[in-house]
Amino acid sequence: MPAFLKSSHTESLPLIYLKRVADRLLVETQNQDKELNIVFVSDEEIREINERWFNRPWATNCISFPMEEGDILGDVVISVDTAKREAELGLTTLQNRLVDLIIHGFVHLLGYDHEKGIEQERLMAQEEFRLKKEITRRAIMADLCVNVDHVATLRQARGGTEPDPVVAAGVVELAGADGVVVHLREDRRHIQDRDVRLIREIVQTRLTLEMAATEEMLNIAREIKPDIVTLVPEKRQEITTEGGLDVVTLEASIKDAVSRLHDAGIPVSLFVDPERDQIEASKRVGADCIEIHTGRYADAESPEVQDKEFEQIAEMARFASDLGVRVHAGHGLKYHNTARLVSISEIVEFSIGHSIISRAVMVGLENAVKEMRRIVKGY
Ligand code: PXP
Repeated sequence: MPAFLKSSHTESLPLIYLKRVADRLLVETQNQDKELNIVFVSDEEIREINERWFNRPWATNCISFPMEEGDILGDVVISVDTAKREAELGLTTLQNRLVDLIIHGFVHLLGYDHEKGIEQERLMAQEEFRLKKEITRRAIMADLCVNVDHVATLRQARGGTEPDPVVAAGVVELAGADGVVVHLREDRRHIQDRDVRLIREIVQTRLTLEMAATEEMLNIAREIKPDIVTLVPEKRQEITTEGGLDVVTLEASIKDAVSRLHDAGIPVSLFVDPERDQIEASKRVGADCIEIHTGRYADAESPEVQDKEFEQIAEMARFASDLGVRVHAGHGLKYHNTARLVSISEIVEFSIGHSIISRAVMVGLENAVKEMRRIVKGY
């Protein structure tokens, strides 16, 4: 179960970032099936809570209410006003201080209590330190990888040399993307072999090569050595990749492709619909990651359908992550529908193309990437 965060404070807080911290705490302590509620309040509110429950009419930084029954771990109440003062005193940011307080309150819920003597104080500090180290070992927020195929689409419309997706790859990186994505299609309708080779040479972050699991593409990938390959289904008639890979039906051939890429030292992601059987099959064939096809969510025609698709993605992201498969997501994501998916902590990478390149026509590629980056990083 994910953590639930809520704020009654007027300060604008990085709630998505803090939620991803809290979710990671649950996973790190094998409490992912438990409910955790974190509430951010003012000094006045925490003072009232202190008076009502503990007969101490003053503000503190954090109060934990463990629930010793059922699937609820408990509630943590944090005063933003006190956290702000402590951040200033400790020469740190409010965000960092709030992370420390979430960990502190969470460790209280696990049964540690520094008020029960020196030994307990030491054990509690040790656990807080361990958790902080563990959860910040990897980036809290997801990566943004930008697909530059549609720069090539524009070039191909005139059959000339501009705009060049190779130049776009450099701009995208300079704007702060965590990676560059290209899809080399069998019909070469946008990205060309030359693009992939040059982009491989210039990319400093990481290059994802999307491709079908054909003999020709496997040979190209083994030669070019992208940082990761995402296997996608490909139909000649489609405008863009229409559905996820059917790993269940094609299990033997995909397993073979995955192992040939692994032999060349290339990790493999499989682009699949958010369906349990496809994810189980992805695990069986040895995929390192799945990329959840977000098309049904992005194209939902009503809020009800979008809610349903969101829940399905959230559940399947959790399912894959529990199986030890890394979770990426992409397809059809836009500036208005990506933030909601960022709240799913198991998604560690977003692959976004068309909406960024479209916006780039209006605001420039650098700005378009920076704006999407702000959404994916939660600030
Ligand atoms: N992920 C995969 C596997 C894709 O095939 C595509 C489209 O090329 C994308 C992500 C990006 O989709 P969009 O261009 O709609 O953002």
